[in-house]
Amino acid sequence: MTNTSQSLFERGMKVLVEGVSSASRGPATFGGAPRYMSHGQGARLYDVDGRDYVDWMMAFGALPLGHAHPKVVEVVAREVARGTHFATALEVEVEVAEMLVGLLPHVDKVRFANTGTEAAMGAFRLARGHTGRRKIIKFEGHYHGWWDAVLVNTNPLPPTMFGHPNDPVRIPDSSGIPEEAWKDTIVVRWNDFDAIERAMKIHGAEAACVVTEGVMSNMGVIPPKPGYLKHIQDLCRQYGALFYLDETVTGFRLAAGGCAELYGLEPDIVTYGKALGGGLPMAMIGGRDEIMAGLEWGKVLHFGTHNAGRLALHVTKVMLETMLADNQAGFARIKHLGQKMAAELERVAKTSNRHAMRVQGVNSMFQVFFTEKEEINDFRDFCTHVDRVKFRNFVLRLFDKGVYMNPSATLHSLSSLVHTEADISFTAKAVAEVLEEMP
Ligand SMILES: Cc1ncc(COP(=O)(O)O)c(C=O)c1O
Repeated sequence: MTNTSQSLFERGMKVLVEGVSSASRGPATFGGAPRYMSHGQGARLYDVDGRDYVDWMMAFGALPLGHAHPKVVEVVAREVARGTHFATALEVEVEVAEMLVGLLPHVDKVRFANTGTEAAMGAFRLARGHTGRRKIIKFEGHYHGWWDAVLVNTNPLPPTMFGHPNDPVRIPDSSGIPEEAWKDTIVVRWNDFDAIERAMKIHGAEAACVVTEGVMSNMGVIPPKPGYLKHIQDLCRQYGALFYLDETVTGFRLAAGGCAELYGLEPDIVTYGKALGGGLPMAMIGGRDEIMAGLEWGKVLHFGTHNAGRLALHVTKVMLETMLADNQAGFARIKHLGQKMAAELERVAKTSNRHAMRVQGVNSMFQVFFTEKEEINDFRDFCTHVDRVKFRNFVLRLFDKGVYMNPSATLHSLSSLVHTEADISFTAKAVAEVLEEMP
């Protein structure tokens, strides 16, 4: 632990709950004091003691352009001098919406929000308003923000608490959530063709929507089986439920058109966050005209003082322009870097051969799993076969070698436009050392 981080943690613990402002940044994840960061530049983070790290966390995916990208710095400096926020209609709001609608074939209209959670709350309310139905079908281990109705079965569980695969035990992941909030939430095993078919037979006619992450991103990285997401979409069409693809992680990350493009889908509703804002808080709900029309005149209400913040919109515009330039070269670049890093990690693990370690990834996202299993396919595999304590130990040791990842095995690592081949070699060397040193 670095000295200044330790003393800031001691001060912070006196005035901030767990010393931080999101449970995932504090001792529950780090097992003690986190590293306090002072600034970032490119692919590097710098802590308060002057150590630097190759950053593979990239603010949980919010930074496709890395830290302090010159174009982001320039646009924020220019625009902040013209006022921070007006809460009025803006030209840049129309411009960014036009870019998004032009890019995403399944989106005719968008509504901006600030965070993935808020956008999801709006999308669920819209799905219920549009269909006049109450039930929400979600999947084990999928996270759609910290709203009451869907904060169910989002955290790892001991296998004795899973329940039958056909009928998972529903467990809210927080106290303070009354049963009424999640009584219409149905939880289904993911990546299982029969399970969703069975659930739709029982609940499909009452379901407002089926919501899924395109790539499971809150239990490491778990890709969908071939044809699985299309299967969900087909069942939604059959039962008249909306197909809601949560692209908060995967949007402007896996491809310009997110998972919908990657897997050839036509979702009814999407939500985006994280990468969309290029590091500033920006999120959106998008969908076809007839569905989005539900938000008109407050039929389905969506408000927000900070919605469509002008600084964030200007950065969103810069992020889109930069990633899309030269025939979307930015997306090809982050995919190349992510896949190369994942392959290097696999290679290093095989060479060392001291630990059962696998790497799963999709394009620019990847995660290391300490597991004996060939593949991690769903929530149950993850909870049963992934050694999360060992992963944390691995990451804490990497900190001392100048590599930053999130210590929670449930999260994942990400490449950005500004990572380099040298960052990959540096990381591979650090990982090789840690694998030799770690018990
Ligand atoms: C798939 C998914 N949806 C929604 C959210 C919520 O986003 P936010 O943290 O911006 O509220 C997250 C956050 O990790 C997420 O992974």
